[in-house]
Amino acid sequence: MSEQKKEIVLSGIRPTGNLHLGNYFGALRKFVAAQDDYDCNFFVADLHALTTNPDPAQLHTNAKNILAEYLAAGLDPEKSTIFMQSDIPELSEMYLLLNMHVGIGELMRTASFKDKARKALGIGTPADDSDEAFEKEIIGAATNKRVNAGLLTYPTLMAVDILIQKATLVPVGKDQLQHLELTRRFARRFNSFYGVDLLPEPKDFDFGGAPVKVPGLDGSGKMGKSEGNCIYLIDDPKVLRKKVMRAVTDEGPKEPNSPMSEPIANLFSLLELTSTPEVVAQFRDAYADCSIRYGDLKKQIAEDILKVTTPIRERVNDILADDQYIASVLRRGAERARERASKTLAEVREVMGIRPF
Ligand code: TRP
Repeated sequence: MSEQKKEIVLSGIRPTGNLHLGNYFGALRKFVAAQDDYDCNFFVADLHALTTNPDPAQLHTNAKNILAEYLAAGLDPEKSTIFMQSDIPELSEMYLLLNMHVGIGELMRTASFKDKARKALGIGTPADDSDEAFEKEIIGAATNKRVNAGLLTYPTLMAVDILIQKATLVPVGKDQLQHLELTRRFARRFNSFYGVDLLPEPKDFDFGGAPVKVPGLDGSGKMGKSEGNCIYLIDDPKVLRKKVMRAVTDEGPKEPNSPMSEPIANLFSLLELTSTPEVVAQFRDAYADCSIRYGDLKKQIAEDILKVTTPIRERVNDILADDQYIASVLRRGAERARERASKTLAEVREVMGIRPF
């Protein structure tokens, strides 16, 4: 009996900080659930992290932490291919090869590059954000800072991560959609230049579920690590409770059935993510008849979040204490990832005319 071939899903995360509830409910939980139905590949993008020149010791620690957090949250090395980007040397070679078909102009116009290049030079976004003005700013920068070439070619490396595994489904956030579009363009360009059908075009993928909104604690917008409004999976109970108790609220409903302000609607979103429907209904009723006490609502939210995060936090600590386990997961992941990567690389070399004599 021939087993139906599962579609290849691939996702990577830069090791720049700890995972928060937004990462968990927005992506990780879905990834964990998809492991039986898809050929799931997941990696820590430590080479991508190098583009912003992190401290080496910090990079190493962050890479280990994020891996431990993913494993603790349920990514299963028995089911998925879990690896460290820098363990796959084939990526670096294909990155060199693919760069021969990537335009410096299209890289310079990528939103993430403009953003990070300006940060590297310590300049803000000027009123004139045209491509011409940007090029003048970057190339003629009159500062003694520099924008490294790795930052420019970030999208090439990301495209290679995807194309070398021939992944067709790539779960990414909105900020990465442009990179995915470039990946498709590079694949098309490569295929048509050489007259082959080698590199499949990947699609953006959300595991088919409805998008999950995870708001932050500061009253507006979503949870994101840059905004300091985050609950991390590894926050200990004291820290977590304190953060939730400090969340922004309003003065409370004055009349029955009044509409909710954004900060309160956000707290209800958090409650819905972690509590039972009965508890949610109870607090909704209390809001509607003005008997709600925000302190009680927050206590409930904190305790229900802790029910989700506590087992994860405990497993993170166990995994971090077990270097042998981490090494064995990565060894196995690298083996599997390299199998497919080396096959694609051989095909790419052949097509481009890099052949034995
Ligand atoms: N650039 C992605 C981010 O910052 C991380 C990433 C690197 C990635 N390579 C990838 C995501 C390949 C999906 C597929 O979030």
